Amino acid sequence: MENSLSPSVAFFPSSSVLEEQRQEFREWLASLPKEKSFAPSGSTLYQNFWCPTMFLENVISFQKHFHAHDQDIILASKPKSGTTWLKAIIFSTVNRAQFTLSNTPLLTKVSHELVPFFEVTVYGNNKIPDLTTMSTPRLFSTHVPYASLPKSIKESKCRIVYVCRNPLDTLVSLWHFASHLSDIRSSGWTLEEFVGKFCDGKEGFGPFWSHVLGYWKESTENPEKVLFLKYEDLKEDIIYQIKRLAEFIGFPFSQEELRQGVVEDISKLCSLNALKDLEVNKNGTHASFFPNKSFYRKGEVGDWVNHLSPSMLERLNKMIEEKFKDSGLSFKVSC
Ligand code: A3P
Repeated sequence: MENSLSPSVAFFPSSSVLEEQRQEFREWLASLPKEKSFAPSGSTLYQNFWCPTMFLENVISFQKHFHAHDQDIILASKPKSGTTWLKAIIFSTVNRAQFTLSNTPLLTKVSHELVPFFEVTVYGNNKIPDLTTMSTPRLFSTHVPYASLPKSIKESKCRIVYVCRNPLDTLVSLWHFASHLSDIRSSGWTLEEFVGKFCDGKEGFGPFWSHVLGYWKESTENPEKVLFLKYEDLKEDIIYQIKRLAEFIGFPFSQEELRQGVVEDISKLCSLNALKDLEVNKNGTHASFFPNKSFYRKGEVGDWVNHLSPSMLERLNKMIEEKFKDSGLSFKVSC
């Protein structure tokens, strides 16, 4: 199922591209396996992951053109694992000397604008963006699996924070998210079908297991490169996890800051209720497609019990057992 891109086709600066190359690219794209998804574009199998087709060209530009700096901080995740939350925390931690709680840009911008996705906006707005003017450290995020990250990310000293969530809650969160993007039920989807796609690995940036295990393996072999966080651990002890994260990204809290309660302030600012209540997160759309409010819902561990039938659960548990049994990675599915 491996598919790769010929260099002549991959390089297509939008202003100077030859129509012939574009045609070649369209033909190549059309030749790749496709799957129906809740996103109107569907998904395309590219380098062994199901890339939402609307982002594929951006992913290729990212792979081709991004040059990592040693100071870069990259948040990676499978969709619906707590990305929005982690972005707020990383942004607030890195910029705590510059912004106070009353003037933080988080009050007026969605966290996806402050820590942009490579494949959605960074390479979506411009195929070869100038990223040299960004302040250091540059903060980025991605849903692209570890195996498909550009070489320069892997070879530089930049750091990757990965957030993972138990598959049952990830799936249920995705189901709700999808309903914001399309009228999912009237377009013929059932939760059962959704579970089937998830277990077959045929969903956005999936398979789930290879995404999670790719970053998990790297975090165990290269702990100074990849910090592996779990959504459930953040819910359990956010103060400890923020401190751990701050150390990893090179912004540890001083004793004085700890005494002043800076970590508690960040955790409150970035809490689900605080962010969900902001006007900016109730209205508007990110990247002309994602309603800002779709990024905030219940934020609970174990909400799957309210949605999954015994047969769906059986199917998911079988997948979890089969794919994760020898990995050393386990999931907490209730609080
Ligand atoms: P639920 O749908 O289970 O509520 P992502 O940011 O990766 O898209 O993940 C979205 C999930 O994270 C949603 O889960 C959302 O409610 C939850 N979430 C968003 N912001 C959060 C926060 N500040 N604290 C905890 N959970 C948050």
